[in-house]
Amino acid sequence: MSREKSLSADQSGKKILITGATSGLGYAAAMKLAIQGAQVFVLARNPAKAAIMIEDIKTNHPYAKGKFEMIQCDLSELSSITPACQKVRDATTHLDMIILNAGVLNMNFKETTDKIEETWQVNVLAPILITHLLIDLLVKSAEPKVIFTASALHQGNINFENPEWRNKYGLISAYRHSKLSIILLTKLLAEKLKPYKVGVYCQHPGFVSTGLGDTNGWLTKMAFKLLGKSPEEGSKTLMFLTDTPNTQLETGAYYAKSKVKRTTKESYQIETAAELLKTIQKYLETYIQSSSLLFEKEL
Ligand SMILES: NC(=O)c1ccc[n+]([C@@H]2O[C@H](COP(=O)([O-])OP(=O)(O)OC[C@H]3O[C@@H](n4cnc5c(N)ncnc54)[C@H](OP(=O)(O)O)[C@@H]3O)[C@@H](O)[C@H]2O)c1
Repeated sequence: MSREKSLSADQSGKKILITGATSGLGYAAAMKLAIQGAQVFVLARNPAKAAIMIEDIKTNHPYAKGKFEMIQCDLSELSSITPACQKVRDATTHLDMIILNAGVLNMNFKETTDKIEETWQVNVLAPILITHLLIDLLVKSAEPKVIFTASALHQGNINFENPEWRNKYGLISAYRHSKLSIILLTKLLAEKLKPYKVGVYCQHPGFVSTGLGDTNGWLTKMAFKLLGKSPEEGSKTLMFLTDTPNTQLETGAYYAKSKVKRTTKESYQIETAAELLKTIQKYLETYIQSSSLLFEKEL
């Protein structure tokens, strides 16, 4: 789908939740969705950056048909996710899309306030908790979608013994493990949600000039800034998924360059995905108050 077609797609009346929209490709995508007419719920940790988005759309896109609803939420603090999702519930009775795009890439081992390794929490636990808490709003939509941001970096196996890579942390190990997890979970959730006609997809944006490398030394930062494509280019596959009807997409698939792409053989093991979801549930059990289409309350 061309950029022109993507920008002209009509999302009027659609209610879309997105994470990771205060920067990079999420910012570009959220802007386009609001221009297309959607009411976009932005879960953001930084109020100053959220204010910049609102100013940007007001100043540079005064005729945008949609709008942003900013909701404070720090994915590295699990206790902030339930109240944020409650605010979404207070504002709408249904959602058409949940876009789980926020992510981190850390040079060094970093613990969140929950004492969990940050890549594992922000890239994997948080998006699954959000999906669990809001899935009942999504199934009320006529065209429901869950879209994750994965990555071409997803090689290896799931490290069930040590998913946080404690005492053997490496930037690549932790990051690609988190993205392999997302690809596996995309397939599992697609199967679970098929009876409810929810399309579940993940996408790789390519190498994009964003803030992802910013905290990893000047060399990584410069590589992202100089070698990456623009966030607008990087958001094209995500926009393809938001704009294309579920009937024309393959649920459970990984998309890159707006096409289904094969991934590593480890990322097709549905039993591994089921085991992974159980591991995630143990981390999240304090926040899982009731059963959902994703989780039984009791294991
Ligand atoms: N850039 C690439 O080449 C590339 C390639 C493959 C996949 N990806 C994936 O693309 C996604 C978007 O990343 P990007 O490249 O656009 O990087 P980015 O510019 O650094 O954007 C990351 C987004 O995630 C948000 N975020 C991070 N930690 C958070 C937290 N604790 N709570 C709430 N929000 C948080 C950031 O919020 P703040 O603005 O507050 O920091 C920002 O909005 C990520 O999942 C990344 O892994 C990127």
